[in-house]
Amino acid sequence: MRPLVAHIDLGALRHNYQLACRCAPQSRSVAVIKADAYGHGALECARALEADVPAFAVACIEEAISLREGGIKVPIVLLEGIFTADELALVDQYNFWISVHTEWQVAALLAFSPRQPIPVWMKVDSGMHRLGFSLDEAPDVWQRLVNAPQVTALHLMSHFATADAREGSYFNQQMTALTTLAESLDAPLCLANSPATLAWPIAHGDWNRPGVMLYGSDPLEEANEITRQLRPVMSLRSEIIALRELEEGEPVGYGGRWRASRRSKIAVVAAGYGDGYDRHAVDGTPVLVNGQRCAIAGKVSMDMLTVDVTDVPEAVIGSEVVLWGSASNGVVLPVDEVARYCDTISYTLLTGVLPRVPRRYHSAFA
Ligand SMILES: Cc1ncc(COP(=O)(O)O)c(C=O)c1O
Repeated sequence: MRPLVAHIDLGALRHNYQLACRCAPQSRSVAVIKADAYGHGALECARALEADVPAFAVACIEEAISLREGGIKVPIVLLEGIFTADELALVDQYNFWISVHTEWQVAALLAFSPRQPIPVWMKVDSGMHRLGFSLDEAPDVWQRLVNAPQVTALHLMSHFATADAREGSYFNQQMTALTTLAESLDAPLCLANSPATLAWPIAHGDWNRPGVMLYGSDPLEEANEITRQLRPVMSLRSEIIALRELEEGEPVGYGGRWRASRRSKIAVVAAGYGDGYDRHAVDGTPVLVNGQRCAIAGKVSMDMLTVDVTDVPEAVIGSEVVLWGSASNGVVLPVDEVARYCDTISYTLLTGVLPRVPRRYHSAFA
């Protein structure tokens, strides 16, 4: 079998979720498992967390239904609400919670007769300028929903544009607008994503919505003592499948981007962009070979990538190669660090691992 496997440490997932809960002890933490739990497998992650979480959050009804059909019983909230009015019948049938962010969704909800009232998170645009009612529209929409027989447990929801940044002026602007609105409506709040959960206690509200931190990625511009306790959930591991000796000056791979500056040993690893490994990885992008840091040398191909192992004499065919996550010897290569070398973010690397890569689940992983 091809050696590339995404090992998923469900013990680390539970640890990271508990960390989110400890960061926001007055708030309830809904675990965000949209996009197949950021590439980790939504159903497996939901099963691992279900005993601890008050609710899960997903992007759309398809994701929610596959969790219900998989046996998940706790509340599931649709973060973008319904995409068509006829989804309300399914929301009612499966007991989902919904967000509403636009007028047609409100109208559809108020024209619908559910078997029981639906918990609703009313989304307000406090500065992200993506989804939600404007601060001016919000009071009127709130009044229409708060007494409607179709609606229960109405909350104000909003999303932060800059909670990951050290500099807090725009965050504070969003927060002030939301606090003023919530006080005027006497509304409970659902605000904080991972960075706000980790860095901005003022934003914890009644519910918080951690996503990427559950998977062990640090979303903050600057790590702190809490983010240093996060554990990687996905470890993308492969092996060396071939070795090459190169003379000084010889190139490697497409376009010959990397050239040996000395006599070098190059390892060919079974992982490429056809697996979701980012082909923007530059020369020098770290990997772990037998738990030792080495660097990518040459362009990533569809099924392979090449690594300079000149300084790892014990590297042989079959040696373990970690693309991110933890090695068998416990050394960790953070996905956030790999993402910086690829000029991207951990979210795209984690959600980008393709179905071709088998996921293997562990309750405690070493
Ligand atoms: C509305 C909403 N809430 C929460 C989250 C979780 O964000 P994060 O993964 O940064 O914690 C997201 C993710 O994009 C989101 O769109």
